[in-house]
Amino acid sequence: MQPRLLALFLMALSLPAFVQCLVRHYNFRVATTNTTKLCSTKSFVTVNGQFPGPTLYAREDDTVIVRVINHAKENVTIHWHGIKQFRTGWSDGPAYITQCPIPPGQSYVYNFTIRGQRGTLLWHAHVKWLRATVHGAIVILPKRGIPYPFPKPDKEKIIILGEWWKSDVEAVLQESIMTGFPPNLSDAHTINGHPGPIPGCSSQGGYTLHVETGKKYLLRIINAAMNDELFFKIGGHKLIVVEADASYVKPFEIDTIFLSPGQTTNALLTANQDFGKYLIAVTPFMDAPIFFDNVTAIGTLRYKGTPAYPRTIPTTIPHLNETPLTNNFIDSLRSLNSNDYPAQVPLTIDHSLFFTVSVGLNPCGTCVNGNKLVSDINNISFVLPTIALLQAHYFNIKGVFTDDFPSSPPIVFNYTGTQPVNIQTNTGTKVYRLAFNSTVQVILQGTAMIAPENHPLHLHGFNFFVVGKGLGNFDPEKDTKSFNLVDPVERNTVGVPNAGWIAIRFRADNPGVWFMHCHLEVHTTWGLQMAFLVDKGKDPSQSLLPPPYDLPKC
Ligand code: C2O
Repeated sequence: MQPRLLALFLMALSLPAFVQCLVRHYNFRVATTNTTKLCSTKSFVTVNGQFPGPTLYAREDDTVIVRVINHAKENVTIHWHGIKQFRTGWSDGPAYITQCPIPPGQSYVYNFTIRGQRGTLLWHAHVKWLRATVHGAIVILPKRGIPYPFPKPDKEKIIILGEWWKSDVEAVLQESIMTGFPPNLSDAHTINGHPGPIPGCSSQGGYTLHVETGKKYLLRIINAAMNDELFFKIGGHKLIVVEADASYVKPFEIDTIFLSPGQTTNALLTANQDFGKYLIAVTPFMDAPIFFDNVTAIGTLRYKGTPAYPRTIPTTIPHLNETPLTNNFIDSLRSLNSNDYPAQVPLTIDHSLFFTVSVGLNPCGTCVNGNKLVSDINNISFVLPTIALLQAHYFNIKGVFTDDFPSSPPIVFNYTGTQPVNIQTNTGTKVYRLAFNSTVQVILQGTAMIAPENHPLHLHGFNFFVVGKGLGNFDPEKDTKSFNLVDPVERNTVGVPNAGWIAIRFRADNPGVWFMHCHLEVHTTWGLQMAFLVDKGKDPSQSLLPPPYDLPKC
């Protein structure tokens, strides 16, 4: 044997008996697909021709490499929603925040390592409204040899909830921008791409969840909808929730799951009922008195061995505005906070921020009513730059953004009063700057600038702890006393209640530029977004890695 080969051979022998972490390679071919599915003939963009797209599997500590090849006619980026992207902001994906989009005919390789997370997340396109059809699941298994901290399921099932428009989604968006009105509501909700029977569309079968008596299933449930918070329910069965946004929670039993767009949850289901078919219902939650969307997606859970054509055992369908049902779920969520998975809640705060999140109205000469709906944080409707913020930051390109995002709104008013107040916004591309490893508390205060609404806020690059929640205006004296600093739920997306507030905390230990926005796509479009810029730390291991050579150009 040659000496070099011999050295390699000896090195291989000295490796541990099994290699802990792997490098997982995926190819995502983004292209336009034609369908007559789902009650309309239209072409839409998918990954690898699948809707929902392919599932990305990895274990904690694995490195994931995804080559995204754009064969579509429009720009593409992919975001790995909830992956912390430590030092790899270039792979985060939001267009014009961490990268310029991948133009048609080009490709880009996303490369990241998964650390300190296990559970279910989702990936989705992050440019315009492309994510309506370009999305899929991310399954993060525990490290090899490490069990789940709950009874081992016999099988796992992925359940992706979505929204479907019969017409072209970009056209829906364009029309709304032109008129200044809200975009059309979706025509259907879907479970793994199936709407179930919907009016005027009787031929569509729904999704079927096949189960066997006595077996335990881990359901990995994802809300990939654009604008709708959703209830998920299975007739005749209870669910035990064990994880949210790829963080373990203290298990609790419930019959209705509630997820905002971008949120994920794992729940155990035991097939312990009589043979038969049981209704699965996915239905929107809307407590703002402005919308009337009540299209329910219907699926069925079916026991193996059930004779043909059984009656489907029904379930009560949650009401459109059934707020108590949302609170039952949300208020039951607690971090597992065990020795193995401690909740590391920041107890001291370096940056105390107060952000109002609102929908407002600005003048618009070309719009139908002379004004248009806008959305904002602290009265600033965020304007996407034409050069990605991360690039501008890394290469010190001036004039792309300013770092004066305000820590509080410009005026103090009765945020949740019933009269519309302070309805106009300013525009800007502003970031809030944080020193490496500083601790941050953000009070997200919902307002009634026009009408109060629930806003699911998503933070890129971090998980945060939800330490408090309440109705009305946040009262620093009184409300901080009831904060949960012991076992608050840890997540990446959280609903700011209608006419209420939420308090989150996180540690800025990830250098880069991190987007925060409402995950209702309609509000993102209207400007309910901002970004944090986290400076590098002193140690070389605390800085952003250099950009990959194939980073798309603007
Ligand atoms: Cu899932 Cu910036 O989004």
